[in-house]
Amino acid sequence: MNRPASPSFRHKAVDALTEGEAKVELAALADEIAHHDRLYYQEDSPEISDAEYDALRRRNAAIEERFPSLIRDDSPSKKVGAAPAEGFSKVRHRRPMLSLANAFDESDLREFVAGLRRFLKDLRDDPDLPLETVAEPKIDGLSVSLRYEQGRFVQGATRGDGTTGEDVTRNLRNIKDVPETVTGVPAVLEVRGEVYMTRGDFSAFNEKQQAEGLKVFANPRNAAAGSLRQLDPRITAMRPLRFFAYGWGELNEPVADTHHEFLQRLQGWGFPVNPLLARCRDMSDMIAFYREIESKRPTLGYDVDGIVYKVDRIDWQERLGAVSRAPRWAIALKFPPERAETRLQRIRIQVGRTGALTPVAELEPVTVGGVVVSRATLHNEDEIARKDVREGDTVRVQRAGDVIPQVVGVIQDKRPADAEPFQFPHLCPECGSQAVREEGEAIRRCTGGLICPAQAVERIRHFVSREAFDIEGLGERHVRAFWEDKLIQSPADIFRLAERADALRRREGWGAKSVDNLLTAIEARRRISLDRFIYALGIRQIGQATARLLARVYRTYENWREAMIAAADPQSDAYRDLTNLDGIGPSVAADIARFFAEPHNRDVLEDLEAMLDITPYESLVGRESPLAGKTIVFTGSLGTMSRSEAKARAEALGAKVTGAVSRNTDFVVQGADAGKKADRAAELGVTRLSEQEWMELAERR
Ligand code: IVH
Repeated sequence: MNRPASPSFRHKAVDALTEGEAKVELAALADEIAHHDRLYYQEDSPEISDAEYDALRRRNAAIEERFPSLIRDDSPSKKVGAAPAEGFSKVRHRRPMLSLANAFDESDLREFVAGLRRFLKDLRDDPDLPLETVAEPKIDGLSVSLRYEQGRFVQGATRGDGTTGEDVTRNLRNIKDVPETVTGVPAVLEVRGEVYMTRGDFSAFNEKQQAEGLKVFANPRNAAAGSLRQLDPRITAMRPLRFFAYGWGELNEPVADTHHEFLQRLQGWGFPVNPLLARCRDMSDMIAFYREIESKRPTLGYDVDGIVYKVDRIDWQERLGAVSRAPRWAIALKFPPERAETRLQRIRIQVGRTGALTPVAELEPVTVGGVVVSRATLHNEDEIARKDVREGDTVRVQRAGDVIPQVVGVIQDKRPADAEPFQFPHLCPECGSQAVREEGEAIRRCTGGLICPAQAVERIRHFVSREAFDIEGLGERHVRAFWEDKLIQSPADIFRLAERADALRRREGWGAKSVDNLLTAIEARRRISLDRFIYALGIRQIGQATARLLARVYRTYENWREAMIAAADPQSDAYRDLTNLDGIGPSVAADIARFFAEPHNRDVLEDLEAMLDITPYESLVGRESPLAGKTIVFTGSLGTMSRSEAKARAEALGAKVTGAVSRNTDFVVQGADAGKKADRAAELGVTRLSEQEWMELAERR
C-alpha cells in the first residue's frame, strides 16, 4: 500500500493556511498518521523516523489549535495513548523506574560512599555515624512493575524508557512467582523487581527451541525478555519465567523505615525476595559480600552481573533523591565477565538473512558461569585475523551481560603445530555465489540474493509482504513450509503455484477453499506497479522511497533494467544519471550493480518478467495535481534535484516538459544562472517559478 498523499500546501506556515486548505490537510494528516501508526504498531516496520512522525502530529495539533471548529472525529490528537491494535498498550509509571549508576572497582565504591557522606550533612558532621547499606545480587533479567490495588494484581508493566513501559499484565499473570492476590498490604502497592530465567531452565528451553527449529537465545536474559514480551500470553505461560522483588513504586502509605525492613515485608506478603542479601555496616562488609557472591556465582543457578548497594534508611534515600535517571542512594558494582578455556574445533561461516557472512566458533562444550557454551561469535573476518584464531586452537571464551559468548583470545602455548591461519571464504558456503566486502565495511556479504537458501525464505517473505506484492494468505509460516517442501524456491514459483494446486490441496490444513483464495490472491498480483516490483526485489538499500524514486525516473521496467545494467560501469552516462538522483549515492549504485551482476538474479528477473505485467509507476495525476496538463520548462541548475528527476517528477504530476519557452508554456522554473529562457518567459508573460516554489508544487515525498 502506498503512503497516503499529503496536500501540496504541506509546506505552508499554519498561519497562512485558508480554512479550506486546513480542512483538506487535517483529513490528509488523519490518514497519514493512521497509516504510520499501523506500520509502527502492527507491522513493526515504520517508514518514517520518530522525528518525522512527531512533526506530523505537531502540525496536526497546530492546525487544530488555529481552527478548532475543524477538529475531526477521527483526529489523531484524540487518539493519544490509544491502545495499539496488536502491540502492547503503554503504561505511564506513577513513579519513574530508574536505572542504576555503575561502579567497576573498589575505588568507585569508596567514592560512592564518600559522596553519600558529603551529601548528607548529619553524616558529614559526624564521621562516626554509621551509614548502613543493603547489598543484593544484581539479577540479570528485566525489570517490571507490579501494581496491586486492594491486594489484587491489576497491572504489570515493563520498564520501557523509565517513564512509560508496556502493559504486560496478562503475561505476568502466567508467572507463578507473581502472586495474584496478597493480604495485609497497602491499598495501592507497586512492587518492582526482576523477571529472569534460571540457567537450567534456559538450557532446556533453548534445546527445545533448537529441536523445533525455533529461535535460539544467546543468554537467559534475552530468553526472559523475549518470553515476557510475547503478544500471546499463552506463549509466555509455557516459558519458565521467575521473579524476584527488590523495590517499590507507588505506595499510598509508608510501609517501612528501612530498605531491609521493606524487603522483609515483601517476603511476608508472599513475594519472592532473593535470600542472598546482607546488611553492611561499612566498606569491609560491602567488599566481603561482593567476594562471597562472586565466588558463588558459577553455582547460583541464575545470572547475576554485579552487586547492588542501597542506602538502608528510607528517609535518607528520600533526601538523596536521584540524578538524571539513577538514584543517588544506590549503585551497582559490576562483576567481570565469566570466562573459561576450551578447544575451538571448527570455524563455521553462517549466512544471515541479509546475506552477511558471520564466523562462528564451534567449541568443545564448556561451562562458562553455569551455562554450557558450545558456540561463540568471532564477529568478522578482521577479528579472526587480529586475534589470529585458528581451528584447533585452545581459546578463552567469555560471557558478559547481554552479548553472545565471545572468543576473547588464543592460548598460544597450546596451539597445535599444524594449525593453519584461517582463510575466510570469498564464496558463499550456502549457495556458492561471490561473497563481497565493500570498502570500509567489516562484513562480507553473499551476492546470491534470491537463490541463496539462507536468504531465500526471508527474501520471499519480503517479496510477498504488504508493501511489495501484497499477497494475502502467504505469511511467513507458509513461505517457510512451501520452501522446505520445494513448492516455492524462488519468487517466480509463486506464480506457478496454480500448476501445483493439487499438491496444495493435499497439504494438511489446506482446504479447497483456502487454496482457491490463495491462488486468486496470487493471480490478482500478476499486474504490479514498477515501484512495488523494484522494492519487492529486496536489493540492499532500496527501500520503498528509493524504489518509488527509481520507478518515477525510469518509468518502465525495461527502461529501468537497461539503465541499471548499463550503470554497472562507473564511467557510463547511465551511472552518472543514477548517482545524480537525490538519495542515490555510489554505495546504493554499487548495490544495484551488484544485484544485476549476479547471473542468478538476472535469471530470476527473466523468469518473473515472463509472468508479470509490470506497469509504470502510478502517477499522482488526477489527484488534483496543480501541474496536470501544464507545459513546463526548466532553466538554470536546480540545487535540490537533478534535471532528470525534475523532469520525471513534473511528468508524474501530469505536466509536459519541453525545452523551449513559447506562448504555450505555462511555467518556467528558474534555477541558478537562468539565462535567455528566463528573459524570454518574462517577455511573453509566462509565470516564472523559483526553485522553492517548484519544490512546493512538486512536493517531493
Ligand atoms: S534496584 C531505583 N535492585 O538493574 C533502583 N535493581 O541497572 C532501581 N536489577 O533496571 C533498581 N537486580 O532491572 C535493583 N537487586 C536489584 C536488582 C536490580 C537487578 C536491575 C534492574 C534495573 C537495573 C539497573
